[in-house]
Amino acid sequence: MTNLKILFTVVATLAVFTFVANVIPQVQSAVPEEIVLSADMSPEELASIGEEVYAGVGGCTACHGLGTRAPDLVGVAGSVCAARVPGQSCKDYLWDSLVDPMAYIVDGFQPIMLDQSRTLTQPQLWTLVAYLESQGGEVTVTSDDFAAALAAADAAPAPMLPPAAVDPADIDPVQLVNEQGCLACHALGGEGGMVGPAFEDLIGQDRDYVLRGIVDPNADTAADFAAFAGTMPPTFGDLLSETELDVLVEFFVTGEVPSGGSDGGDGGDE
Ligand code: HEC
Ligand code: HEC
Repeated sequence: MTNLKILFTVVATLAVFTFVANVIPQVQSAVPEEIVLSADMSPEELASIGEEVYAGVGGCTACHGLGTRAPDLVGVAGSVCAARVPGQSCKDYLWDSLVDPMAYIVDGFQPIMLDQSRTLTQPQLWTLVAYLESQGGEVTVTSDDFAAALAAADAAPAPMLPPAAVDPADIDPVQLVNEQGCLACHALGGEGGMVGPAFEDLIGQDRDYVLRGIVDPNADTAADFAAFAGTMPPTFGDLLSETELDVLVEFFVTGEVPSGGSDGGDGGDE
């Protein structure tokens, strides 16, 4: 009798494990499949992949579609882009607004959008143009645009690769914040944007807090800037090397340009 009980328990336990093991892979397969791009995709396919890039890796929804921070892009390919730059096709205008956003600043908005080619590949950018064109207009991105972008993407390294390691003394933090576009939103020495706190406000702050502010900007929100929470791109942890991050954090918390960097006059304390 006892043996039978044991046998029953074993069988029941096995049954439960088998059941669980069968359920788990089904749960995991709900993970989105990787996007595969090829040159022979139809305009509709490109646009629908673009929609995923837009809401996903592109990070566009951090600004667009949320209140007044950035223009609403619904209908952008209709009368909107036709009226933007005289003589420029909608396709060219949309491409430029992604890779050279400062070329045309929409009235009533701050120039806080960064060059998207720094974080997205050329094919991803074309899918975005296709998606935006589908918002009110005809998709004119062709397999030619796309094939050329794919070939270029194969030849060039992915843009997300972290920069090569260099001697910290060779890194000029002032130059770095200029190159990285930080000053579109933050001010340094009285110049730059007002979307995020001025870099001088970071003097004396905790190093870990400042580092987190750069690599994981959504972890905390700076007091007084809650209205702009979510605007800072979360990609700087990938774009900057560890050494560059160290140099930036050191610069922000001390307010001093390290020796070896530029002697740009206004270091912080007067
Ligand atoms: C940090 C916030 C921010 C992010 C992120 C952002 N944008 Fe923008 N975008 C703006 C703002 C603000 C403007 C209007 C000012 C200007 O023209 O630069 C704009 C303008 C545009 C325009 C021109 C709209 C028009 O009416 O002419 C397009 C197109 C556009 N963005 C597409 C995108 C796409 C696609 C992405 C994602 C890959 C993206 N943006 C990410 C803030 C952002
Ligand atoms: C598109 C606008 C934008 C760009 C570009 C940007 N930031 Fe920010 N940043 C913000 C906003 C808005 C905040 C405040 C809200 C928050 O904390 O998320 C912020 C917060 C921060 C903080 C935390 C400050 C605090 O007191 O909590 C640091 C540090 C920082 N940014 C550094 C940088 C650096 C370095 C760069 C360039 C490599 C950069 N940011 C580029 C918008 C931007």
